[in-house]
Amino acid sequence: MTLLTDELKQAAAYKALELVQDGMLVGLGSGSTARFFTEGLGRLVAEGMKVRAVPTSRATAELAAELGIQIVTELIGPIDLAVDGADEVDPALNLIKGRGGALFREKLVATASKRFVVVVDESKLVKQLGVGVLPVEVLPFLWRSTAERVAGLGVSLVIRGGEETPYITDNGNVVLDLTIDGGIKNPGEFGLELKEITGVVEHGLFVGMADTVIVAGPEGPKAVGRLSGGAVA
Ligand code: A5P
Repeated sequence: MTLLTDELKQAAAYKALELVQDGMLVGLGSGSTARFFTEGLGRLVAEGMKVRAVPTSRATAELAAELGIQIVTELIGPIDLAVDGADEVDPALNLIKGRGGALFREKLVATASKRFVVVVDESKLVKQLGVGVLPVEVLPFLWRSTAERVAGLGVSLVIRGGEETPYITDNGNVVLDLTIDGGIKNPGEFGLELKEITGVVEHGLFVGMADTVIVAGPEGPKAVGRLSGGAVA
């Protein structure tokens, strides 16, 4: 089962490699599916392709550096293509991301990209977002008070890692994992409500951001969404 899922993740990630062209500035996602993409890009670079990359986490930056991919941290102009995984994808291509903890930089990179391509195995497809937890990155300073305001939206939550040893993001923040009974009925509205709460740095709802989602199932990878500017079909 694990092996099969990994094969599907790899198939989706490799399909996205077809979109990479010489000279591009590429956003590199985080997590196990995005890792396959970064490794594939490393091979293309080793074969002579010239690309530069913006990583969404320290882990991805380390991997990219090991593979000899040139890293850019200060942007002048947009990223040509960002490729990342997701935890959940709904029929409108809205996403939940961040179960790996890198959601803030992932959203920054996706927002700065001309094209945001999501790579998933078919187990990530859901009818409605909120099947699993929704990660929300908050400032550690007075986080309990922030958590109370978040809980006021009618959700239950835990601090990732527990109060004793909280998980700390690459940005030095903590993550609240929200459970929403009945799922997220209106992801756009709910995302705005979360953003209005003082202390919330960013949330894992990516609404209307994905241009293309490449979904891998037993029949192979399929691209859904806007397909302009690439070879994926
Ligand atoms: C990282 O913070 C996440 O947003 C990942 O992109 C997401 O959790 C998907 O990860 P996997 O590809 O490992 O399932």
